[in-house]
Amino acid sequence: MKNTLQQFKQDILRQLEEVADISLLQELEKKYLGRKGELTLLLKEIGNLPATERKETGKLANEIRAEIKQKLIEIKSAFAKAPADKQFFDATLPGKKIEAGHLHPLTLVQRELEKIFSSMGFMILEGPELESDYYNFEALNIPKTHPARDMQDTFYIEGHADLVMRTQTSNMQVRAMEKYGAPLRCAVIGATYRHEATDMSHEHSFCQIENLVVDKGISLANLVGILKTMFSGLYRQEVNVRLRPGYFPFVEPGLEAEMSCIFCGGKGCSVCKKTGWLEMGGAGLVHPNVLKYGGVDPKKYQGLAFGFGIERMAMLKYGINDIRLFRGGDLHFLTQFSS
Ligand code: FA5
Repeated sequence: MKNTLQQFKQDILRQLEEVADISLLQELEKKYLGRKGELTLLLKEIGNLPATERKETGKLANEIRAEIKQKLIEIKSAFAKAPADKQFFDATLPGKKIEAGHLHPLTLVQRELEKIFSSMGFMILEGPELESDYYNFEALNIPKTHPARDMQDTFYIEGHADLVMRTQTSNMQVRAMEKYGAPLRCAVIGATYRHEATDMSHEHSFCQIENLVVDKGISLANLVGILKTMFSGLYRQEVNVRLRPGYFPFVEPGLEAEMSCIFCGGKGCSVCKKTGWLEMGGAGLVHPNVLKYGGVDPKKYQGLAFGFGIERMAMLKYGINDIRLFRGGDLHFLTQFSS
């Protein structure tokens, strides 16, 4: 046994002298000193020796193990001190993944919409989120005492009676007409705010897209054509559009726009509640009063406008069933949108 131990020691020390890099060193350490290492197993056999031999052999074994361990420590620290270019680099090892950020699902939808509308010649505009009562309501044909104000629960600013957090991207209708005049084609995407209790489909802060076209001879046929192009582009399938009467004081006629269900193709399913149609938002032909507020002559020009929730569009596109996920900051949800 003692001879075997001495032989082991010489073999191991020789191999340690020749070792070229830290990974080989680790392999040797495992081979001899690991839990099932050759030297470890040999040391376990000492317990089976006759009592007369056991004490002396055990002492020798411990000395040998200590010597080898000391050698390992020395070699490891020598590797650590070696200049970086002398350290072994194993190009076959898998690399460390660097986690990169990615776009939020709402940004993905926003960018798709911007692409679709740019291709149709729409200007892409933003606008103030802290807005005057005038552009958010009055210039949209909603005077101070008008009951339609109750349709949108509004955040007012303490000490600034004339300021609101915009409740709709329609606030940009008159601003755009004032700035660019007629004819005009613009899409506004941005945040809007309403003093609403949140649930699976309502948030107090959400995004809308608003489109405005002002030109000569604009009709509902243009509206249907634009909506079909938008929905078909966003959902990558042919869809139909249906308009039903709706009320918004800044359009006449006012309409609710619906898209044929993208899940059942209009046959009726649980998502569209067996109707074959999905409600998407408000639309209509711009009210003559609003054109006048924008400095556009309603006798010469007509307009169309529509406004939709970006979250609702994204929920349908990605099959998301709770609007609160968008701003919940849950990485399990968000990382599903990394490409
Ligand atoms: C409007 O905001 C009108 N400005 C739309 C419009 C524009 C009509 C131009 C006519 C002409 P409404 O309040 O229905 O309409 O909101 C439009 C869409 O915004 C809704 O269909 C919905 O998708 C989204 N939305 C409204 N409130 C919330 C909310 N609390 N949380 C999430 N999305 C909302």
